Amino acid sequence: VKLFNELQRYVGFTVDDERRLRVLHPLLSPHFQDVVDRFYERVLEHDDARAALQRGERQVGHLKITLTQWLHELFDGPWDDAYVRRRERIGRVHVLINLPQHFMVTAMNVVRQRLREHLSATIDESSDEGHASRDALQRILDIDLAIMLHTYREDLEARNARAERLATFGQLVGSIGHELRNPLGVIETSIYVLKSGAPADPRTQRHLDRISQQVGLANDIITQLLELIRDRPLTRQAVELAPAVAAALESIVTEGVTVTVDDRSDQVVLHADPTQLRQVVINLVDNAVHAAQPTGQVRVRLERDGQGVTIEVTDSGTGISPEVKNRLFEPLVTTRTRGVGLGLALVKRMVERHGGRIDVGRSDSLGGARFTVWFPLNGGDA
Ligand code: HEM
Repeated sequence: VKLFNELQRYVGFTVDDERRLRVLHPLLSPHFQDVVDRFYERVLEHDDARAALQRGERQVGHLKITLTQWLHELFDGPWDDAYVRRRERIGRVHVLINLPQHFMVTAMNVVRQRLREHLSATIDESSDEGHASRDALQRILDIDLAIMLHTYREDLEARNARAERLATFGQLVGSIGHELRNPLGVIETSIYVLKSGAPADPRTQRHLDRISQQVGLANDIITQLLELIRDRPLTRQAVELAPAVAAALESIVTEGVTVTVDDRSDQVVLHADPTQLRQVVINLVDNAVHAAQPTGQVRVRLERDGQGVTIEVTDSGTGISPEVKNRLFEPLVTTRTRGVGLGLALVKRMVERHGGRIDVGRSDSLGGARFTVWFPLNGGDA
């Protein structure tokens, strides 16, 4: 908001400008459709910009609606705190889709130019009032662009800082992991020696078993950590999805929770790394089961489309809070009391290495969380 006031002062945006924009609103709104069409024509013409439209041209329909809404707000205000926050949000959304910042500037120019053309054709720009109206439009477009770019940069910086932290973290984890393997190995050997000696009394035996078990757990955690930072090449092969999922489900303890599978995969065969595919399913379903406990339901839906398959896992748990949601796929973020928070980070890594995507949302039917994974049939092979 301080930024907004500063910008307003800097570009000289006044209540007169607000009044003028409101006068222009009904005059220009019949042309919004044309402005928006032109905007997306230009986006689609450009390869890098088009690449940001992940869901393809289907998404454009929805975006045209949001952009039209944006235009209405531009001319109608109110240019208050909420206005600024909505504009800040727009910058953020574009950081999330990896849109290079310069596209915001060039895109804004398309809007600016198109609006100017319609303005010239609509009002008499040579009059003082016409002149002032044109300036009002310039000023609000400058302000909007400045707000978006400001948050854009802030978000980008935060993201880079996080990436750097994670890179350092990766190196640290790698060396600690390797270093821990040795002492754990020694413990394992010693237990083995103790167990194979004279039979111990039951209590000692129980403790030896417990130590073995815990060493196993510690080794698993290290394996997961190393897996996360290492780029093991994928070994892809033909995997039939439904049986692979069924086999993975067998290894999950579902105490108190009913797991059902809705298989519409039509015996689809993927070209994927079977171990990783299995791990993805196990991690997602295991999380879902935990979320649904003590008693509840988990549904796994498999569905194929033209180029890939969707694996959707929903649960009847309490869902994911907004604070956790944003950081869900980062390592060490967990809501479980036991667990180190690597499962979802691993899942995301594995899915992305297969050229797939993962989304999280709310389950409409069961009320808890919904994880949707999409894998391309060719496993991301070029
Ligand atoms: C002046 C420049 C731009 C403005 C004012 C603008 C406006 C908006 C608005 C209002 C939204 C909805 C934000 C929300 O959900 O709250 C949005 C989302 C989006 N915009 Fe833009 N946009 C601009 C430039 C671009 C460009 C150049 C692209 C190029 C591909 C683009 C792609 C997208 C995409 C993909 C989303 C949807 C993200 C999602 O899936 O939620 N935008 N934009």
